[in-house]
Amino acid sequence: MKKHSVSVLILVITAALVAACGSPKPPVAADPPKASAPMVGVIPAPRDIAAGKGAMRVDGGIDVVYSGGEPAKQTSQYFVDLMNRLRDTGLASPKEGTARSGAVNFVLDTAKADLGAEGYSLVVAADRATVTAASPAGLFYGAVTLWQLATEKPQQGIGVSVPAVSITDAPRFRWRGLMLDSVRHFQSVEYVKQFIDWMALHKMNTLHWHLTDDQGWRIQIKKYPRLTSVGAWRVPAGPAARADIDPKTGKPRVIGGFYTQDQIREVVAHAASRHVTVVPEIEMPGHATAAVVAYPELGVAGVKSPKAIPEEWGIFPTLFNVEESTFTFLENVLAETIDLFPGQYIHVGGDEALKDEWHNSPRVQARMKELGVKDEHELQSYFIQRMEKFISSKGRKLIGWDEILEGGLAPNATVMSWRGIDGAIAAAQAGHDTVLSPAPDLYLDHWQSAGDLSPGRSDTLSLEMVYKFNPTPDKIPEEQRKHILGVQGNLWAEMMRTEDRVTYMAYPRAVALAEVAWSAPARIGWDDFQRRLETHLPRMDSLGIRYAREVAIKPGDRRRVSHDLEQCGGGYVLSLEDDAPLDGERAVFLVNITDPCWLWKGADLSQVGSVKVTVGQIPFNFQIGKDAEKIPLPKPATKFGELELRLDQCDGPPLYTVSLENAVNNHGLTPLPAVLLQHEGKHDICFKFTRSRIDPIWVIGGVELTAR
Ligand code: ACM
Repeated sequence: MKKHSVSVLILVITAALVAACGSPKPPVAADPPKASAPMVGVIPAPRDIAAGKGAMRVDGGIDVVYSGGEPAKQTSQYFVDLMNRLRDTGLASPKEGTARSGAVNFVLDTAKADLGAEGYSLVVAADRATVTAASPAGLFYGAVTLWQLATEKPQQGIGVSVPAVSITDAPRFRWRGLMLDSVRHFQSVEYVKQFIDWMALHKMNTLHWHLTDDQGWRIQIKKYPRLTSVGAWRVPAGPAARADIDPKTGKPRVIGGFYTQDQIREVVAHAASRHVTVVPEIEMPGHATAAVVAYPELGVAGVKSPKAIPEEWGIFPTLFNVEESTFTFLENVLAETIDLFPGQYIHVGGDEALKDEWHNSPRVQARMKELGVKDEHELQSYFIQRMEKFISSKGRKLIGWDEILEGGLAPNATVMSWRGIDGAIAAAQAGHDTVLSPAPDLYLDHWQSAGDLSPGRSDTLSLEMVYKFNPTPDKIPEEQRKHILGVQGNLWAEMMRTEDRVTYMAYPRAVALAEVAWSAPARIGWDDFQRRLETHLPRMDSLGIRYAREVAIKPGDRRRVSHDLEQCGGGYVLSLEDDAPLDGERAVFLVNITDPCWLWKGADLSQVGSVKVTVGQIPFNFQIGKDAEKIPLPKPATKFGELELRLDQCDGPPLYTVSLENAVNNHGLTPLPAVLLQHEGKHDICFKFTRSRIDPIWVIGGVELTAR
């Protein structure tokens, strides 16, 4: 941390305080710092803050008192529960009454509208603490801030000490979101509820729930039971899963699941109690494979659609057709969805709909003529506009990925900009609302650091990069920024097989995003955020959030895992999990899936007598179209294939080859026989595999140099 961070913080806090006096607007002026400005470990940073004198002792001798009805009662009870989670503070259940001395008071007062729709004030003095808000959400956020103040420092004895402070706070944006992909891997209801709790404790308020896609359909639709009886289950990729025969069916065991309508109501009600709105996503016209497998009549006639729910990642060609019966199906699905989700927005996807099936289908082309639509892009626009009309007729708003701009935007549509921020720029220019969730800036399936050993996209998206994301780019002129509803981080779950993986990828980056969404990081600074994050980590521990700790990899001189090796050549480098064993921890490999090749640069071989390589094999389950044909397949010498080693180059005849014979039938890691080496000095060792097919991909698990 840089030395000047303290003065920067004081400057920021003071600026906020001076600018905001009773105003819900963000601070604008930077006045001279006030020495009394406190440094509080609240995350996301509050808008205005001023130090008081002394501290308040909160223990069993203190009442928790609320006024303002049921929401105030619930929030005050939630506060007591949070306080007692780490250890028993002695706080008892809240009592109804007017704010008073000797108490923690929660005051819900609609007359205090100047605090804003989600704002609050919090005053802690030696004899009392009072949270005041005009809305239940604001009161809840005030309670969260008070809980954070009370857990900022390690505490002694029974009860806690809360520093005297005066805070007035309100969010910068109204859409403070995370997207959870429950299709690529399914999460339990309990996990989703916990995920919502964690969001709320960071003052995030929108869960975009990705419920349908090629690899699964996760929402029960009563009218169409096959969507979930067929569409919610798939055999995972790879030979280990294919060999895992379920004795009940005599077929490979399937994974997946879906949320019943009762469970969805439970999640939505839970979210409401935490002031989180759940936005469901039903994908169309692409990412439709699971629905088309369940009901083939929804697909484009005459094309070869998958017959089973696919286990591959990527972009599938499968589209919904454009028959009236299909629109009726989609409207029926949306009607049931709308009944389950009371929020304003319904997400219809719209992304990555390859147009080949429509283009090549005489039936679709005939329909286009009938509908007076000139090309496939206009057809996508027609499709989305029909859905928009239906959603509007139900009193809701359509939101979609930025491809919904193609061919003309539906009148009241909101655009979620993911291909950079161009979609947001175009939407705002056209007078439409927009949410910024650009790739790669807010795609939380990327690695968090270069030393990350977990599965994920290998281009790093660090905590600092998320923190420094600018949600008000110059390219959107000031007068159009009112259309920026907010920001959202996306947790695409292809490489998040377990719930722990989702948590690991989400946190702590979601904390940085929460501050982008609620506060104004440019006015606060990365150093100060880091300082507050340090005090926040124990809170996350107490909540059971298994976040990514800093990964410091210091490979030894003689050992490397694939993540320590360089990838040779260009290509699509991913960190991928093994498909075996089916239970327990699995190895993770860094691999260039389009040209697997690893390099140990500058290995000192002077004292080395042999090299031992451990290898694995993972399924090639990627839809990459014609690019798959360009993948090099170095010709194997035997039917098993070989590992090839070269020194100081990756081409030409190999210096050593090792047969993969004892690895081909092993789903997990296999140590290959040692290769004897006799070389002096430093060399680059290049590792490649021969093979006759792209699936599976042979991968390096580890390399060890042993002494002479
Ligand atoms: C997306 O990442 N396809 C929205």
